[in-house]
Amino acid sequence: MAMSHSHQVRFIRGCARPEHFPPEGLAEVVFVGRSNVGKSSLINAILGIKGLARVSRTPGKTQQINFFEVDRRFIIADLPGYGFAQVPETVRRGWGSLVETYLSSRRTIRLVLFLLDLRRMPSPLDLQLRRWLERRPLPVRFVLTKADKVSSNQRKVQARKIGESLGVSWEDLTFFSATTKEGTRELWAILRNALDNPPPSCLNSASR
Ligand code: GTP
Ligand code: MG
Repeated sequence: MAMSHSHQVRFIRGCARPEHFPPEGLAEVVFVGRSNVGKSSLINAILGIKGLARVSRTPGKTQQINFFEVDRRFIIADLPGYGFAQVPETVRRGWGSLVETYLSSRRTIRLVLFLLDLRRMPSPLDLQLRRWLERRPLPVRFVLTKADKVSSNQRKVQARKIGESLGVSWEDLTFFSATTKEGTRELWAILRNALDNPPPSCLNSASR
């Protein structure tokens, strides 16, 4: 059990195969994005725990979904990154089936946080995943990472371009930096809102 001043976090397990997913239970928040976009860094930063979700030096290495239980209240799923060129084709296919199985079968998902690097335009793989998610009943929010690397006057320009490419208003994009912790409060507000207000499809069992 890892403790920060305000959160109680337990690593459940890392799963390379759907058979190993923990049983469905608490509501889940999912973090997706290309390799190296800053998923693990963001998770560590918002929970206030260094080194909980491993920050990789070799991008694309973690081909498993890592599950963390937070405050006995919800689960964070840290998905493996995609789009790392050196990853062999077989591993790439494995990514697709693992992630697709997870996202299409898991009934406890309340929110998908889709991370994109503020400095880069969405890649073809980002856009492919975005379109795939659009056809699913999953709430998605976009987070622009590594905001500390972009000057304040360039941010809006860059966010507008990214928003246009994704087909969302730039005002719906959340800036985040794991270095400065900018965006932490906003992300927690988004998380709480998603956890407190389940989408209609989640209402039938527990909450009625
Ligand atoms: P995979 O697990 O390989 O998919 O990568 P990931 O998305 O989990 O990225 P990770 O958190 O491992 O970060 C990748 C690299 O980006 C690391 O060297 C981090 O230190 C760096 N990084 C992550 N977030 C930020 C940020 O907000 N600002 C800056 N300057 N660097 C960051
Ligand atoms: Mg990671």
